[in-house]
Amino acid sequence: MKTKLKTKVPPRWRKEVEGVLITEEQIARRVKTLAREVERDFRGHETVVISLLNGTVLFLADLIRHLNLPLRLDFIGVSSYGAGTESGALVFTKELRLDVRGRDVLLVDDILDTGKTLSRVLPKVRALKPRRLKTCVLLDKPARRVEKVSADYVGFAIPDLFVVGYGLDFAERYRHLPFVGVLHPHVYQEVLNPADKIKSGNERHQPILRAR
Ligand code: PRP
Repeated sequence: MKTKLKTKVPPRWRKEVEGVLITEEQIARRVKTLAREVERDFRGHETVVISLLNGTVLFLADLIRHLNLPLRLDFIGVSSYGAGTESGALVFTKELRLDVRGRDVLLVDDILDTGKTLSRVLPKVRALKPRRLKTCVLLDKPARRVEKVSADYVGFAIPDLFVVGYGLDFAERYRHLPFVGVLHPHVYQEVLNPADKIKSGNERHQPILRAR
């Protein structure tokens, strides 16, 4: 069934974004209630928030400013490289620096898609022996799951649409949109078509060409 996208796309983005799936206001409201849920469970202990780079930047910044908890923040850099609509191999670009042994840990990511990222990262963090480990994602796309993994806190469950914005990119673009939008197929079709030459300013870091 086709998802109806009622909110108008700001004129600046109409050529590339075909609809707004989640508005800025909806995100703001949900992030606040998510923070309340996390707070309830993590109260009483210092929390270590581990955020997965790069897609979490906007969500993380909004979530943590609503968390009334003593917390420390660290990042794990992890990216999937490779063409096509499936996740490519995972590359760790930054390791955790804080010691999380015996700590209460909240792992934050922007989207849970195939589950490959979380299913690789979770055992790594678990091996560091935190007292508690919970996961929080803004978006969950259950239709795309290939790994048996779920998140403890989910902002929005979404259908299988190619989404960008609020941290989510296509070839590193659109992360700064304040809403979650659906990319026009013409934007990614020309790039995902292997017959077309991939245009990237940085050949070492090929754009991440995956359907979201
Ligand atoms: C995205 C996103 C998640 C992951 C989810 O990261 O930020 O970490 O994909 O997909 P999965 O469930 O299929 O593994 P990506 O590797 O594209 O890097 P980015 O965060 O820099 O965009």
